[in-house]
Amino acid sequence: MLEVSQLTVNYGAITALHDVSLRVDKGEIVTLIGGNGAGKTTTLRAISGMVKPKAGEIRYEGRAITGLPAHKLVGMGLAHSPEGRMVFANLTVRENLQMGAYLQRDQAVIAREEEFVFTMFPRLKEREAQLAGTLSGGEQQMLAIGRALMSQPRCLLLDEPSLGIAPLLVKLIFEKIVELNRVRGLTILLVEQNANLALEISHRGYVLETGRIILADQAATLRADPKVREAYLGG
Ligand SMILES: Nc1ncnc2c1ncn2[C@@H]1O[C@H](COP(=O)(O)OP(=O)(O)OP(=O)(O)O)[C@@H](O)[C@H]1O
Ligand SMILES: [Mg+2]
Repeated sequence: MLEVSQLTVNYGAITALHDVSLRVDKGEIVTLIGGNGAGKTTTLRAISGMVKPKAGEIRYEGRAITGLPAHKLVGMGLAHSPEGRMVFANLTVRENLQMGAYLQRDQAVIAREEEFVFTMFPRLKEREAQLAGTLSGGEQQMLAIGRALMSQPRCLLLDEPSLGIAPLLVKLIFEKIVELNRVRGLTILLVEQNANLALEISHRGYVLETGRIILADQAATLRADPKVREAYLGG
């Protein structure tokens, strides 16, 4: 469904990604793990058209999408829930969700998707008229995921959905990710600091270190790997 080949991304003189190759098959959850600054966010940003790669190719559903602008990709069913939530603080919960469906003209489809998001995250429904900037961190995270879902993606890029969130809510968010994958058939590329939980719900994973993929394997194999355990899973 998604194939990244030999991707290189520079920020000025800094090379953030060197020759990164990875793939996500239809129906999979694939996790990208790595330390701070390893290039995880950059990988997702390059895929969703937010940064321009220096070299390499990205293919989505068989088509080359390298360098296409983000809004084109959203229209093709590829959505990105960015790191740090990035909700529109001065818009309400509902307005934020509607922004996620900005390419959709059919009000009935928008209403149905909104209903789906509210069923998934009832807490957002309770706060539909609240300004997003006044939501708690966990609620903003739900909103960021919900907003990405409003474009009816087939493939979802999720950057640190559990960042800064209390353990009980982390569990809920991971359950929702699994539900999106198993029930809605969404293909997911997940970036997580919480590598243990992420690998637990993933089919496969990649380990990124200073801009290079150093390991790629089945999630269970990565979880059992002593080097991965020591570096990323807390021993
Ligand atoms: N806009 C930018 N300008 C310059 N350098 C950048 C920019 N964005 C990222 N970088 C650098 O690129 C490298 C990779 O950053 P990236 O955000 O992809 O890492 P990450 O793996 O997502 O890290 P984290 O776990 O901390 O979110 C880092 O060294 C970072 O400082
Ligand atoms: Mg990041």
